[in-house]
Amino acid sequence: MSESAARRLELRELADEQVTLTALEAIEASQAHGLSQSQLIDVLNDDARCVLGAWWQACESSTCESLDGESPLAELIGFVVLARGPFEAEIEAITVHAARRGQGVGARLLAAAIAQAHDWQRDSGLERLLLEVRASNAAAAALYAKAGFTRDGVRKGYYPLADGGREDAWLMSLPLV
Ligand SMILES: CC(C)(COP(=O)(O)OP(=O)(O)OC[C@H]1O[C@@H](n2cnc3c(N)ncnc32)[C@H](O)[C@@H]1OP(=O)(O)O)[C@@H](O)C(=O)NCCC(=O)NCCS
Repeated sequence: MSESAARRLELRELADEQVTLTALEAIEASQAHGLSQSQLIDVLNDDARCVLGAWWQACESSTCESLDGESPLAELIGFVVLARGPFEAEIEAITVHAARRGQGVGARLLAAAIAQAHDWQRDSGLERLLLEVRASNAAAAALYAKAGFTRDGVRKGYYPLADGGREDAWLMSLPLV
C-alpha cells in the first residue's frame, strides 16, 4: 500500500509541549533561516499568535481517531505562524520539512492560515493578511501568488546574508474583505 493511501494529513493548532517543540526544532533545522528554540517557545505562548501544524497521521485502522500529537504514528512535517494585529494579520513563518516539500503541504498550511485570518476578520474586522518574503525565495513567492497574494512593495536590503551582503524583502498582501 502506498504511503498516501495509508496516511492522511491533519492540520491543527499547536501548543507548547515538549514533543511539539522538538518536532518544530527538527523542521527548522532542515532549512536555512529557521526560528530558534526561544523564538518557537515565544510564538507558542503568545495569545496574539496562532501556530498551525501539519501532521501525517496513520489512519489505516480504526485507531486513527484516537491518535494525538504524542503518538509515534503521528509526524509533524510543517507549520505556519499567524499573528493577529488590530487592523491586519501577518504570516510570520511557514515551513515544511525539507524532506516533505513539493507534496502540497505548504499550500494546505497556507489555506488554513488564510481561513483563520478570515475568522479573525469576521470577529474584529481585519482588513488584510500580510507577509514578507526574500526576493530570492521563488518557491515561497509562487506559493503565495497561487493563493492570491499580490506584491505591494519592497524593503531594500532588509534581510542579512551569510556573506555580509543584504537581500530585499518583498511585501505581499491578501485582502480579507
Ligand atoms: C515555501 C514552502 C513552505 C512550500 O511548501 P511545499 O509544501 O513545498 O509547497 P507545495 O507543495 O504545497 O506547493 C504549493 C505551490 O507552491 C509553489 N512552489 C512550491 N515549491 C516550489 C518550487 N520549488 N519552485 C517553484 N514553486 C514552488 C508552486 O506554486 C506550488 O504549486 P504547484 O505544485 O501547483 O506548482 C517550502 O518550500 C519551505 O518550507 N521552504 C523553506 C521555508 C520558507 O522559505 N518559508 C517561506 C518564508 S517567507
